[in-house]
Amino acid sequence: MSGQLNIVVGVTGGIAAYKAVNVIRGLVLAGHNVHVVATEGALRFVGKPTLEAISRNIVHTDLYEGVAEVRHVAIGQAADLIVIAPATANTIAKLAVGLADDLLGNTVLASRAPVVIAPAMHTEMWQHPATVHNITVLRSRGVTVVGPAVGQLTGTDSGPGRLEEPDEIVRAALAVIAPKDLAGHRILVTAGGTREPLDPVRFLGNRSSGKQGIAFALAAVARGAEVTLIGANLEVAAPGSMRVRHVSSTLELAAAVEDAAPDVDVVIMAAAVADYRPAVIAESKIKKELAGDRLTLELVKNPDILARLAEARRPGQVIVGFAAETEQDADALLALGRTKIARKGCDLLVLNRVGWTEGFGADSNSVIVLDRLGDIVMEASGSKQSVANRTLDAVAARLA
Ligand code: CTP
Repeated sequence: MSGQLNIVVGVTGGIAAYKAVNVIRGLVLAGHNVHVVATEGALRFVGKPTLEAISRNIVHTDLYEGVAEVRHVAIGQAADLIVIAPATANTIAKLAVGLADDLLGNTVLASRAPVVIAPAMHTEMWQHPATVHNITVLRSRGVTVVGPAVGQLTGTDSGPGRLEEPDEIVRAALAVIAPKDLAGHRILVTAGGTREPLDPVRFLGNRSSGKQGIAFALAAVARGAEVTLIGANLEVAAPGSMRVRHVSSTLELAAAVEDAAPDVDVVIMAAAVADYRPAVIAESKIKKELAGDRLTLELVKNPDILARLAEARRPGQVIVGFAAETEQDADALLALGRTKIARKGCDLLVLNRVGWTEGFGADSNSVIVLDRLGDIVMEASGSKQSVANRTLDAVAARLA
């Protein structure tokens, strides 16, 4: 899913309303047009200027404003998706009976778009038979319920009822409307960065967090693919919605990829792989008393997993490589990418610039995707999730 969608974010009056700001931000970063409909209660917890600045659109609250343009139905009619975060017990009850006593209620009733709600309330309210019944009613109507999470609530209480993390709400909401164009396809994604052990306590590593690879894996799942993720020292938790294997060194990654690759239609090699590893791994901790003032490490070359995959590819298999380069000049960066895809033999190469302050660990990215001829297939920037989705568009086109 790459087109810009009209997403209505309903914000209702609970303390978690301040977290709605990050939900809105995530949807905007994913490239969508976000209209906030806030209840009066929501505006007691978070200011309209904040919601307007983050959504980049006017925030609507009042049912009796904009009557000439029939706003109480227009917003809902134009929506591709409605996300209500946080959804209070009161809002959930109103949605369950179809009340339209405020702009949000009207918007939901006037819309055919899928609805996603992220409840947030105290545990007693969440577990009350009235709320349990209302949630059952909404689910039976096709509403997607995200969370709530278990954890710290307002005051000193904790338990089920905490708003799900904003990133997860964004992911789950976009998954609802993702086209299932990768259904029936098996996809292998590698993520993270390899570590090459020097001794039992040390390694040579790199700064890859695994976020971009995980974004690819999640986007592929949302589009219906059966995904296997091979994670190398991930800094973020691996998602539960796929098969996950954890590895550490390049040789372990190579073995895991070799094992999984023959059965998949697509391999996405997002992991940052060490080109060299220590020639010898010390049995015990290297001591400076023995090593002296200078320590020379001898390194040997690692196998090039991507090049091997491309060589062994079955007809129809799509292999996607990555190139993270520090080159600052745009033309020289492109030239590096073209040389790399020619050398690796993969079908697509996702090229991005990294540096001391760029790329690693960030939540957004900016990439150029090249094909085997070195032609630019597309350029994308935004959240790592939207970059993944744009790149998967190119993958889906090749599978078709
Ligand atoms: N890669 C791999 N095996 C290696 C090194 C890299 O499979 N031993 C993969 C990476 O996962 C990535 C792509 O190759 O998809 C490019 O990685 P990069 O480190 O940019 O390329 P190198 O081959 O290391 O080229 P150079 O060091 O010259 O930049």
